Amino acid sequence: MEKNINKVNVIYPLSDDHINAAFIDMVSAGRGSMQYFLGDSKQRRKIFNSCINKDRILAAYIDSKLVGYASFMIDGKGPYTPRFKHFRSEFGILSGAWRYLAFIMAEKHSHSTGFYLYMLLVKKSARRKGVASALIEAFCQEAINRNKAFVELEVTNKNLEAMRLYEKTGFIPTRVIDMKWLHAFFSFSALITMKRYVCDKRESK
Ligand SMILES: CC(C)(COP(=O)(O)OP(=O)(O)OC[C@H]1O[C@@H](n2cnc3c(N)ncnc32)[C@H](O)[C@@H]1OP(=O)(O)O)[C@@H](O)C(=O)NCCC(=O)NCCS
Repeated sequence: MEKNINKVNVIYPLSDDHINAAFIDMVSAGRGSMQYFLGDSKQRRKIFNSCINKDRILAAYIDSKLVGYASFMIDGKGPYTPRFKHFRSEFGILSGAWRYLAFIMAEKHSHSTGFYLYMLLVKKSARRKGVASALIEAFCQEAINRNKAFVELEVTNKNLEAMRLYEKTGFIPTRVIDMKWLHAFFSFSALITMKRYVCDKRESK
């Protein structure tokens, strides 16, 4: 089967050599679920491309070709640390201000969990070959290396493919957040928190 032919290589930590144009293009378009606030992929690229934290990103390669990535948040820091000036230059002062505020609030929400899978993306041409599964295993290994007991993520109730992937890789749903009036700003009506224990809770924090 194709899955066995393709050898997925997940790299973490990344060196400066990995941070090339293809990498920046792929990673800086993230946070698509916040499109209402952060703009389309072109606008998100402009906001994020100069403030990517490579120490929060795992990259997946097949035959030396970048095919996907996973990013995470820990200690209050995720894969992007944009400043207000990035939003201002894209949206102007007023529009930039409330969008920046929305971004900060979303970051704080993600930070409230421990070791958090922030983004997971596989190129369309490389899907169903085990790339996301390999990224998740490497992410969980990183949690073990950092002596974490569990990892968490959030998935929208509309993303059934991702939910299937997470269930298959050992995550269990622990909470459902009803978006209520916020539904007007997002394409989904609920966020599901999922958790996977990665090592013995008694030995870790
Ligand atoms: C969801 C996503 C990351 C899956 O990546 P992938 O590399 O294709 O996933 P894998 O090959 O590791 O799939 C592992 C398992 O997940 C499930 N799965 C993955 N994609 C699926 C799909 N489109 N439909 C149904 N099940 C799916 C299957 O059980 C699959 O096992 P199988 O191929 O043996 O049936 C990818 O489709 C993607 O990038 N989607 C857009 C971004 C996104 O939604 N990210 C998640 C944000 S929370």
